[in-house]
Amino acid sequence: MRFISFCFKVVIRIIGLLFLREMASMRDTVLILGASGQIGTDLVHSLRETKGSPNVIASDIRKPSEELLQSGPFEEIDVRDRERLFEVIKKYKVSEVYHLVAMLSATAEKTPMKGWDLNMQSLFNVLELAREKHVQKIYWPSSIAAFGPTTPKEDTPQFTVMDPGTVYGISKLSGELWCDYYFKKYGVDVRSIRYPGLISYKTEPGGGTTDYAVEIFHRAKNAGQYTCYLAEDTALPMMYMPDAIKATIGIMDAPAEKIKIRTSYNVAAFSFDPHTLGEEIKKHIPDFVINYKVDDRNEIALGWPQSINDTEAREHWGWQHDYNLKTMVGDMLKKI
Ligand code: SER
Repeated sequence: MRFISFCFKVVIRIIGLLFLREMASMRDTVLILGASGQIGTDLVHSLRETKGSPNVIASDIRKPSEELLQSGPFEEIDVRDRERLFEVIKKYKVSEVYHLVAMLSATAEKTPMKGWDLNMQSLFNVLELAREKHVQKIYWPSSIAAFGPTTPKEDTPQFTVMDPGTVYGISKLSGELWCDYYFKKYGVDVRSIRYPGLISYKTEPGGGTTDYAVEIFHRAKNAGQYTCYLAEDTALPMMYMPDAIKATIGIMDAPAEKIKIRTSYNVAAFSFDPHTLGEEIKKHIPDFVINYKVDDRNEIALGWPQSINDTEAREHWGWQHDYNLKTMVGDMLKKI
């Protein structure tokens, strides 16, 4: 009798442990789409530190860097391929997806249909898998590009005129509305923020209008000179990557009831134009010279806000930025 009771306890214990293991793996596994990109590189690093490497699956259509490959699981995924995406989600029992794949503003203007196809198809694939309950939570970024030429330029509010004039901006505004639709209609827990231009030193952005604010640091350090494609007084809202990562993880970790806006939240840190950024860099590299050769990207930038009001993000889920122009420039020049 005693032996039977002992065996029974052991079996219950084993079942309990297996159940806990299953729950743990279901609860914590996240998939990052676009992991080799500017945001993905930093986000993978941060999430692997907090969640543990095996729980953070990196993926990209590109071959991964050696560093990314060595630091945890990696899967090659073309996000337009829903079956492949589903296969990876099932394989790792993924519960959260960070969808960072996008063709940015300047590149999408050159190949509008490709930009639209990539940006929208990839979003629908993720939203549909969430609607079918294969994942529990989604992060998808929007952008200041979702605003347009008749949007109020200064202190742009959360709710205002939105008339984007680029393919990228149209895909972001449409995506926002689809996220809201999937939340309201199917209860999909999708969260989003409108990133300003993002500045980082680990990976350079590709094909954006705000890329100058990263290139300038590399050129200032390597050549002491930079030729800027935006006019010296074209101001844009910007953010340092540690703050962008903080906002991204902050909105994803917030309790669902605090996320009251399911299109996308305004978030802000600081704004500057190329001249002001150049002057700040000169405080560290006095001989630095900035020249101007304005191209089409200036026209895109002129259609975007110059500064953003992010009251709702601060009030609803406690968003706060840490870096200003001065501290960002100091840190970039030290780390680049
Ligand atoms: N950084 C993006 C771009 O310039 C805007 O979100 O396209």
